[in-house]
Amino acid sequence: MMDAMECILSRTSIRSFSDQAVEEDILRKLLDAGMAAPSAVNMQPWMFVVIHKRELLDTLADKLPYAKMLKQAPVAIVVCGDLRKTLDQREREYWVEDCSAAAENILLAAHALGLGAVWTAVHPVPSRINAVQSTLHMPEYLIPLNVMPLGYPAESKEPKQKWDEGKIHWNSWNEE
Ligand SMILES: Cc1cc2nc3c(=O)[nH]c(=O)nc-3n(C[C@H](O)[C@H](O)[C@H](O)COP(=O)(O)O)c2cc1C
Repeated sequence: MMDAMECILSRTSIRSFSDQAVEEDILRKLLDAGMAAPSAVNMQPWMFVVIHKRELLDTLADKLPYAKMLKQAPVAIVVCGDLRKTLDQREREYWVEDCSAAAENILLAAHALGLGAVWTAVHPVPSRINAVQSTLHMPEYLIPLNVMPLGYPAESKEPKQKWDEGKIHWNSWNEE
C-alpha cells in the first residue's frame, strides 16, 4: 500500500475503466474513507448512493453533460448533502465543504486501492441536481454534490504537475 503523500501526489482523474466489477468489500472501504472526513461541528451531513445497475449509470450518463464516462464505469458513488443535518442559517452551506472532504477521501482511497475515479459535477447546477434526484428517486432534502464514476483503470496517466511557488504567500500577502 502506498504511503499518504505518494497517494495524494500520484492521484489523477481516471475516465476510462475496464469491465472488471468492483467488489463490495472494496466499495465499503471507499465509503469508510468518505465517512472518515472532517466536518463542521462533526455533523457528518453526507449520504452516499452507490450505483451499479447498468440502466441507472447509462441514464445518468445521458442526463449529465460532463459524465459520459458513466457508460463505461462499472459503478459510481454519488456524494450527497443531507439538508436535515446542516447547521443553521449562516453556516448551512458547510455541508458543501464537508461533502467535498468526503469525496476527496473517496478519490484518494480509490487510488490507494488500485482503482481509478473522477469527480463529475452536479451541485450547484439546478438542472443536474434535478436529473440526479429524479433518476435515483431521492428526496429533496438530499442534494447530490457530485457523481463519481469508478472502476479498475483502463488508462494509465501521469499526475499533472501542479506545484506553483507563485501560489504561496508566507505570513502576509505582500511579504516575499
Ligand atoms: C468541483 C469539480 C467538478 C468537476 N467536474 C468534472 C466533470 O463534470 N467531468 C469531468 O470529467 N471531470 C470533472 N472534474 C475533474 C477535473 O476535471 C480534474 O480534477 C482536473 O482537471 C484536474 O485533474 P486531476 O484530477 O487529474 O488532477 C471535476 C473536479 C472538481 C473538483
